[in-house]
Amino acid sequence: MTRQLFVTTALPYANGPLHLGHIMEYIQADIWVRNQRMMGNSVHFVCADDVHGAPVMIAAEKAGLTPQEFVAQIAAQRKQYLDGFHIAFDNWHSTDGIENHQLSQDIYRKLKAAGFITSKVIEQFYDPVKNMFLADRYIKGECPKCHAKDQYGDSCEVCSAVYAPTELIKPYSVLTGAAPVMKSSEHFFFQLSNPQCVEFLRAWAIDGHRLQSEVANKAREWLDGENGLGDWDISRDAPYFGIEIPDQPGKYFYVWLDAPVGYLASLKNYFSKTGQDFDAFMADPATEQIHFIGKDITYFHTLFWPAMLKFSGYKTPDRVYVHGFVTVSGEKMSKSRGTGISPLKYLDIGMNPEWLRYYLAAKLNAKVEDIDFSAEDFTARINADLVGKYINIASRAAGFISKRFNGKVNTAWASNEDEFLMDLRSIATEVQSYYEGREFGKALRTIMEKADTINAYVDSNKPWVLAKDPLNDAMLQEVCSRLLESFRLLTLYLKPVLPQLAEQVESWLGIAPMNWKDVVTVLPDGHQIAPYQHLLTRVEPALFDALFAAQEEEIVAQENKIEELSEEITIDDFAKIDLRIAHIVNCEAVEGSDKLLRLTLDIGEGRTRNVFSGIKSAYQPEQLIGKFTVMVANLAPRKMKFGISEGMVLAASAADEKANPGLYIMEPWPGAAPGMRVR
Ligand code: MSP
Ligand code: ZN
Repeated sequence: MTRQLFVTTALPYANGPLHLGHIMEYIQADIWVRNQRMMGNSVHFVCADDVHGAPVMIAAEKAGLTPQEFVAQIAAQRKQYLDGFHIAFDNWHSTDGIENHQLSQDIYRKLKAAGFITSKVIEQFYDPVKNMFLADRYIKGECPKCHAKDQYGDSCEVCSAVYAPTELIKPYSVLTGAAPVMKSSEHFFFQLSNPQCVEFLRAWAIDGHRLQSEVANKAREWLDGENGLGDWDISRDAPYFGIEIPDQPGKYFYVWLDAPVGYLASLKNYFSKTGQDFDAFMADPATEQIHFIGKDITYFHTLFWPAMLKFSGYKTPDRVYVHGFVTVSGEKMSKSRGTGISPLKYLDIGMNPEWLRYYLAAKLNAKVEDIDFSAEDFTARINADLVGKYINIASRAAGFISKRFNGKVNTAWASNEDEFLMDLRSIATEVQSYYEGREFGKALRTIMEKADTINAYVDSNKPWVLAKDPLNDAMLQEVCSRLLESFRLLTLYLKPVLPQLAEQVESWLGIAPMNWKDVVTVLPDGHQIAPYQHLLTRVEPALFDALFAAQEEEIVAQENKIEELSEEITIDDFAKIDLRIAHIVNCEAVEGSDKLLRLTLDIGEGRTRNVFSGIKSAYQPEQLIGKFTVMVANLAPRKMKFGISEGMVLAASAADEKANPGLYIMEPWPGAAPGMRVR
């Protein structure tokens, strides 16, 4: 019986680009999905941007865009990541799509009708300048325990104390700096504390194979903890970028209410494009709904989400597969600091996406374990295993078949009695079930062990020795044909992980796209293959220098917060500064100074001026000679150790010169002439 699968990955926040953690999750799910498809099962594999909430609203405002425009820009970037890493989603949608508005409101209405929605007036901090309620992360102040300044509203980074935002001393709004005031407002709650709900979740979480055992244990802890489940606040007040709560003007769903509904919305959107019946599909008991997520969002997916679905009468998830986090060289990636490896840089510098797929697969298992990305480990696995053991088989056999046998294979030996062949096929079901069970590392280990066996066969049959005597031709052709058939099978086994490489191999061998059924087929006797072309290069360690260098640039760019603006001035204040276009007539180093360059500047006064400038770290004197720049021409002359400086040239630099030491002098557009005033 073929399975009918609906598979999702977590919907990434639309407030930034995708990082290695996202790509890891997509690769994990994509491998799983490809394996299912190769087994003949039907899979709908979807994702979407999670666009609602205060952070997106604020980021959009900063960028001078509407939230819709802002998230559209983010959405437009997604394709290059997904295509780049061969991730085969059927659909990518947005939680602001019409389907999500309808579905979220429908779920809410049904929860309400079933008596699961309550309301309560709560008091919360409010920014009187921005006229909005402030989530804890938008409030800072002095820690009530250790008195460290500028601590967040929920906990202190210095002494780790946890407290309520109202306990902060001298609290201020991160958005405006204003002192927040307490204000009350009606909020809506999903009644998780309802005994029916707790009872349902206990059964759902603990039942069978729905959750990994460590995840089920966690869920049980949450359910049976001292306070049990509290009711969940699902509303936010305007201004909020979100979905309006029916019949409650000015109230919106909290982003985490509508985010998982986005899974259904993306599927519905996909079905509307392909003419399939969403309601019928979801109502079909054969449909399996499977979510891949990271460990940090387990709570939402194992408590809130199934309960929402259950009590609104929707289908509940069949499986939630939780993975750990990726770290890079042992360090946690931080979204806010932008550390980690940039997936786009990885592609830009020409690193092969299938290397990353293979590497991550080799490290992944069914547990909630973190995995570390390390350059040495990566290089070893690709070069020693993938290229050294697997690709090598093709390159060792292909030349003889092409040159000596006109590209024709001999598979007359291939029968169900052939031990060599049966041994190769013997791992197929094992590999398949490792993929199914997300034990990708075990799948690859099993495959590579077979590659070892085949390489041992090469070493004992020595085709290069056979090739020396034409009397051995038949033998040579058989040995090489066995190798090519082995290579075909290994490629089939690796295909969920290396879809593009498998495609290349299929076209080289001149065979149709393979799926699991092709384990029992064989290259036809006398079949002709194309001349061998190199399939996969080795990893050059120098690539990592480029990858990590690129990453540092990005960190600098992101940490380079702009310097505080100076006090306001009037146009008259500005007019006091006489800025002129200057021609750099000469430029030389200053003996005894490692900072200064001596500039000879002409601003058309009939004389030149001598100006010392602290830009030696950024420019060679000869780079500047003959160029135009901008100088302050009415600055009082200043006597320096090396002579008198008669003005100043303008240069840009970052606030934090340690993190970003660049210095950039001004250069006018062509046409500006010495002496012209800049105003
Ligand atoms: N928008 C929510 C999810 C809503 S699902 C209805 C969210 N977004 S996220 O962009 O922060 O994370 C998306 C996914 O990436 C999550 O599954 C998260 O666990 C995963 N990862 C984020 N950082 C990660 C690593 N460093 N490593 C692996 N996965 C990580 O949460
Ligand atoms: Zn403290």
